[in-house]
Amino acid sequence: MLTETKKPSTEEFIAGMREAGRLASEVIDHVTPFVKAGVTTGEIDRICHDYMVNVQNTIPAPLNYQPPGYPPFPKAICTSVNDVICHGIPGDRILKDGDSVNLDITVITPAGYFGDTSRMFLVGEPSILSKRLAQITYEAMWLGIAQVKPGCTLGDIGYAIQTHAENAGYSVVREYCGHGIGQVFHDDPQIVHYGKPGMGQKIYEGMTFTIEPMINAGKRDIRTMPDQWTVKTKDRSLSAQWEHTCLVTATGVEVLTYSAGSPPPPDCVAGLKFRP
Ligand code: MF3
Ligand code: CO
Ligand code: CO
Repeated sequence: MLTETKKPSTEEFIAGMREAGRLASEVIDHVTPFVKAGVTTGEIDRICHDYMVNVQNTIPAPLNYQPPGYPPFPKAICTSVNDVICHGIPGDRILKDGDSVNLDITVITPAGYFGDTSRMFLVGEPSILSKRLAQITYEAMWLGIAQVKPGCTLGDIGYAIQTHAENAGYSVVREYCGHGIGQVFHDDPQIVHYGKPGMGQKIYEGMTFTIEPMINAGKRDIRTMPDQWTVKTKDRSLSAQWEHTCLVTATGVEVLTYSAGSPPPPDCVAGLKFRP
């Protein structure tokens, strides 16, 4: 026999995903006090790596992750600063006053489940633009989450995100998207962050996927750096991203990566039930 993935019961799967989501989010909770001017992205990576491996007993999914056509990702987390859209590689860059940085964490639990979440951090005294971009992107993610229930379509989710971003004068990155997640990192379906109501596949109870819009202050166009991972805005405008892992429930959504340190949902989704 080559490889075997045992198919868990629904209850076992949901319990595994709840644990993975909580642990991923708790890595960000843990590192939050260290994200300030003067720290390097490499130090942030080390703090997260050590917490995952030594405290949580989780594995950082990005480390040595190598999809077809990519070199192995060399670090435990992604740190995407200012005009970096996603997949920034931690290193010697020192965070300074006014920077905005996304920390994207994916853990693999001992039971074999993946939890994937990211948050924005504004260092020191942020500009009005970086604050507004992070806020609009946060609202866009939550407006997408608020669409989630059995029978809604992927187009409903994408439309909610796209209209909010574009009404604010921003643009939606198309080349990267959310994804199914479970006992693998990146599964079907692709959760695109644009679309039309009623279009695309219907979602059903028990599905688990991420919603992780990348929103640019300028144009949507991207350029990939020579390291083959770091993705920046082509026009060097600021970019922001937030990410949650979601479970489709019988009546709506459960946000699996919501932990004590998660910012509360924005007013535009007031009253949304997203926890059991
Ligand atoms: N966490 C990212 C996502 O949201 C994927 C990072 S892959 C890496 O899907 F290799 F760049 F870490
Ligand atoms: Co992620
Ligand atoms: Co993801």
